[in-house]
Amino acid sequence: MSEVLLERPSEGVALLRLNRPEQLNALNGALRKLLSEQFTALTADDSVRAIILTGNDKAFAAGADLKEMVHFSSVDHLLRKQHLLWRAITQCHKPIIAAINGYALGGGMELAMHCDIIIAGESAQLGQPEIRVGIMPGAGGTQRLTRVAGKFKTMKMVLTGKPVSAREAYDMGIVAEVVPDAEVQEVALKMANTIAGMPPISVSLIKEAVVAGQDASLETGLMLERRAFELLFATEDSKEGIKAFIEKRKPSYKGR
Ligand code: CAA
Repeated sequence: MSEVLLERPSEGVALLRLNRPEQLNALNGALRKLLSEQFTALTADDSVRAIILTGNDKAFAAGADLKEMVHFSSVDHLLRKQHLLWRAITQCHKPIIAAINGYALGGGMELAMHCDIIIAGESAQLGQPEIRVGIMPGAGGTQRLTRVAGKFKTMKMVLTGKPVSAREAYDMGIVAEVVPDAEVQEVALKMANTIAGMPPISVSLIKEAVVAGQDASLETGLMLERRAFELLFATEDSKEGIKAFIEKRKPSYKGR
C-alpha cells in the first residue's frame, strides 16, 4: 500500500492521505518523495481545483522520521535537498487545506503550515518538539510560525517543545477552524467544494497575492493585489460572475 493515497472525493477536489499509520505518519524520505510527486501532478491537473491534505484519526504526521534520521550526517542532510521536495507544495497555485486529527508535530506541523487553510479536530495537538530530541525545526517551523504567531508564542513553542491544543492554535492564528474530531474531513471537504466551485483564475490570483504579499512590504503587496485585480477583468469568468449577479442567477464559470 502506498504511503500517500490519492482520493477524488468530489468533482474538482483531490484528497491526499498520508498513510503510515503504524508510525503515526512520520515523514520518511519515501513518503516525502511521493508527496512531492503527487503535488506536482495535482498542480498540473486542470480538473483539480482544491486539495485536501490529511492523515488519520491519530495523526496528521508526528514529524520527520526519527528512526531514519538517526543515521544521517550533516552532509547526508545537505545532499538530500529535502527543500526541493517541500517546494512542490509551495509552488502549487491551488488552495491546499490541511485537515488535522491527532498529532501534527515537528515536520508534521511544518507540513500543515505549507498549506493555505488548517482545519483541526478539537483533540488535535500541534507542536514543534524537535528541541526535545536535540535538534530544531528544519522545514520552516522557526520562520512560518513566527510570521503567524509572532516571536513570543513561537519562542515558547520551539524552545519548550510543548504542543498546543487545536483551540490554542486557533487563538494563535494557525488554525482557521476547530471542529469536533469526527467532522474534520467533512468540514474540509465542504470547504474544498466551495472553493472548487469558485472561478479558478480568481482563486489562484488570490492565493498568489496572499502568499507573495506576506514576504513583501505593504506597498508592494498592495501593488501585486491591484495588478491581479485589474487582470481579472480580462477573464470571461469575471464578466459571467458580475452578469449572473445582476441577472439574479447562478454563475457558470469556465476557468477562462
Ligand atoms: N519518527 C519515527 N517514528 C515515529 C515518530 C517519528 N517522528 N513519531 C512516532 N513514531 C512511531 C513510534 O516510534 C512508534 O513506533 P513503534 O511502534 O514501531 O515503536 C509509533 O510511531 C507509535 O508512536 P508511540 O508509541 O510513541 O505513540 P504515543 O501515542 O505513545 O506517542 C507521540 C505519540 C507523542 C507523537 C510520540 O510518538 C512522539 O513524541 N513522537 C515524536 C515526535 C517528534 O519528536 N517529532 C519531531 C521529529 S523531528 C522533525 O520533525 C524535524 C523537522 O523539523 C523536519
